Amino acid sequence: MNKIRAAITGIHGYVPDYILTNKELETMVDTTDEWITTRTGIKERHILKGEGLGTSDMAVEAVMGLLKKTNTDPLDIDLVICATVSPDMVYPATANIISDKVGIKNAFSFDLNAACSGFIYALTTASKYIETGSYKKVLVVGGDKMSSIVDYTDRQTCVIFGDAAGAVLLEPSTDGMGIQDTILRTDGSGRVHLHQKAGGSVKPASHETVANREHFVYQEGQAVFKFAVSNMADVSVEIMEKNNLTSDDIAWLVPHQANLRIIDATARRMGLARDKVMINIQRYGNTTNGTIPMCLYEWEDKLRKGDNIVLAAFGGGFTWGAVYLKWAYDGNKA
Ligand code: UT7
Repeated sequence: MNKIRAAITGIHGYVPDYILTNKELETMVDTTDEWITTRTGIKERHILKGEGLGTSDMAVEAVMGLLKKTNTDPLDIDLVICATVSPDMVYPATANIISDKVGIKNAFSFDLNAACSGFIYALTTASKYIETGSYKKVLVVGGDKMSSIVDYTDRQTCVIFGDAAGAVLLEPSTDGMGIQDTILRTDGSGRVHLHQKAGGSVKPASHETVANREHFVYQEGQAVFKFAVSNMADVSVEIMEKNNLTSDDIAWLVPHQANLRIIDATARRMGLARDKVMINIQRYGNTTNGTIPMCLYEWEDKLRKGDNIVLAAFGGGFTWGAVYLKWAYDGNKA
């Protein structure tokens, strides 16, 4: 029998309605549309407004849309993995909350935290369950309500992030389509450059941590940029070489959307022209775990069965990696 691979058989995404423009940010912090555009490529980002709404609410929109368009009964789902750094609560897992809200009752579910690389870590993890042959329908969700952990008085971070969620359905494939290879890496020493200082067991929440604004994203932008630009490009080239892929063989690069300059550098190293690179950072900013599924969702109708696609990410941790897959169906957005 042919090897069982995990194939993406459907994708859906969701962004909240509210659009936070660079112009509006100019009224909030000392910044300019020109600075944000030239340094990051971002023009606007979507923000989830409304009391009591969290990451699961965006994820539920993505999952409901996905189940509907793939005609999938929630009772047939075997496993849900949610990649997020902004879970609804510290525990239980947001994946459990999503499952409950959409009526998934015959699955187990858990969250995975690998910051901006979370979606490709989760996709890789999920693919292993499929490859064993015992799991038939697995949901991988990537989503973040970054606006809940961003300090809107800090111009270095608040201009970058946005909110979004996306979800894919993974199913077994024996016709050679699906996930072919993945390379994942971690370097925990990078944590000093990008982290959230308080709210964990080392520094539980207190009046002082709140007053010191320590529950927000802390990022040393330049240091992270340096590691991101080299590691994301290196791992993308590594997965090409390992699988004997030339730039002509690759239909699409799907990069994590952290900074247009990082995306361009990665594409350049891979020898890819811009028209083979999915880029929507200008409209959504960095939605952390939402970036890669949102790109696949928006490009779905252009994707064709057999397309060679490389997903690549770099994020806090540090974490980074690349996934090489063969797209499993001709896309037609419902
Ligand atoms: O997704 C997970 C991983 N994260 C990343 O990959 C992010 C990687 N880092 C980056 O994308 C970039 O480093 C940033 C976009 C965060 C910052 O861009 P940069 O070109 O590295 O700027 P910088 O931090 O070196 O700052 C340059 C100048 C500074 O002023 P001085 O010291 O030169 O006078 C900053 O204070 O720009 C200033 N600055 C701003 N000015 C206007 C920083 N933020 C802003 C701002 N508006 N929003």
